Amino acid sequence: MVEPLLLPSPKMTASEALPKEPGVLVVLATQKGSEDGATVAVCSAKVREALDSDVVQTIDRLIGSGEISGAAGEIVCVATSHNHAPLLVVASLGTPDQLNRGGVVDVAASVVRKLSDKARSQITFLVGDEIPANEHDALVVGAMTACEGQHLYQSQPSTYVPAAFTFVGISSDAVESGQKIGSSINHARRLVNEPPTIMNPTEFANRASEMAKAEGLECEIWDEKRLDAEGCRAILAVGRASTSPPRLVILKHNGGGSEPPIAIVGKGVTFDSGGLSIKPSEGMVDMKCDMAGAATVVGVMRAIAQLGIKRNVIGLCGLAENMVSGDSYKLGDVIETRSGKTIEILNTDAEGRVVLADTLDVAVEHGPSAIVDLATLTGACMVALGNDVAGLMTNNQDLCDQVVSAAKTESEPVWQLPMFPLYNEKVKSKVADIKNVGEGRWGGAITAAKFLEHFVKETPWLHIDIAGPAFVDSAKPSRDAGATGVMVRSLVRWISQNA
Ligand code: BES
Ligand code: MN
Ligand code: ZN
Repeated sequence: MVEPLLLPSPKMTASEALPKEPGVLVVLATQKGSEDGATVAVCSAKVREALDSDVVQTIDRLIGSGEISGAAGEIVCVATSHNHAPLLVVASLGTPDQLNRGGVVDVAASVVRKLSDKARSQITFLVGDEIPANEHDALVVGAMTACEGQHLYQSQPSTYVPAAFTFVGISSDAVESGQKIGSSINHARRLVNEPPTIMNPTEFANRASEMAKAEGLECEIWDEKRLDAEGCRAILAVGRASTSPPRLVILKHNGGGSEPPIAIVGKGVTFDSGGLSIKPSEGMVDMKCDMAGAATVVGVMRAIAQLGIKRNVIGLCGLAENMVSGDSYKLGDVIETRSGKTIEILNTDAEGRVVLADTLDVAVEHGPSAIVDLATLTGACMVALGNDVAGLMTNNQDLCDQVVSAAKTESEPVWQLPMFPLYNEKVKSKVADIKNVGEGRWGGAITAAKFLEHFVKETPWLHIDIAGPAFVDSAKPSRDAGATGVMVRSLVRWISQNA
């Protein structure tokens, strides 16, 4: 197989003044109401001062004619007379009350993606007071995530990563943290976008371990023998039909002294064929994405290690490939999970909850103050909430509210689904303690969560079903299709709080 693209690592620097050779120069515009009630674009004073007067005149003419309107998402390219910056890009943020952190990420990402059609030595963002200083790092996150896509194996590159970015008017701290978060999102996306035969449980575990080594995290990998010794019969059952055996990855970041850790847990089904309850091709075609929860865990752990967050965090990835063979786990099988609870398998395609049963049990053993799990768990969650919104289910409203608030700040859409006790009945089994499907299709996201709840004991727990937003069919101006790295930003923010 050809080697995939290297992960993008453009040079990123903060600068107080405009460099002599800025390359492509990017400025931001916002939209304000004018006296006659019409909207008009404005460029900040700082931007005007930094540019030659004839360039400012050109911009003003384009604003006057409405060509630059300031509407969110608008990107206008302007020729300049500057020797070293023949191209100026004016990217608009919309009105100040429309502006949120996600919009800041998106504006930078859209510009960089638009400029990715050619090899460029330098892109300079000239930032005035268009966005508050505490959102400056979001521009850097967007510039970074724009550099990664799903075109890993094209023999001719279709897009180019700029060699360097300069951010004028942004502190070096903001550039650094934006770069750390953005590259960690890319790291998570890369794990998901790799083909499933490459990114099998062993390879995923190896890459997690390489990352841990590079970032100074503790890392433990349980192979199939250790999983057996530990009684992880549920993980082993799901992975049994695969020639690539299951793994469990445990990553530890010790930044919080003696406090109990936060645990983040990810579903890592590196390919979900459905098993004997096999999926049709249309349902199977994207199932390399079924380890996106585990990839998110790796991305978050990388970010918090790089940022040096003063918390104790443990990341667990339950890894298995759900395949078909003479040794497949079967419908009607009963598995005694690591926790001792027995589960009846009525559909081998409801495998994620089976893998998570043991993974959550290992998490509980570490005595965490809270567990957050991430999983591409159910098609039902996509039916309920669509493609852009992650579903939240919890046994602890305070924990859920904390993550909702972090997600709101990061503009990552999430929505809570109820966990009424009436759903408990739906996962009861006639043969074992519980069964791995609900009753019919109704409420499938919630019955899956009800199954998981059996394995977290009394620990405050939040389940995030990312089946919709983790992997998408169509590109947007601000990001490629494929893996999105959804929830890395929100979880890093949530973990960083109170640190
Ligand atoms: N990995 C799938 C869920 C999924 C579907 C993720 C589409 C991303 C996009 C999961 O393992 C699955 O197959 N769930 C079944 C559960 C059912 C058999 C109870 C589903 O949602 O149909
Ligand atoms: Mn499945
Ligand atoms: Zn699955």
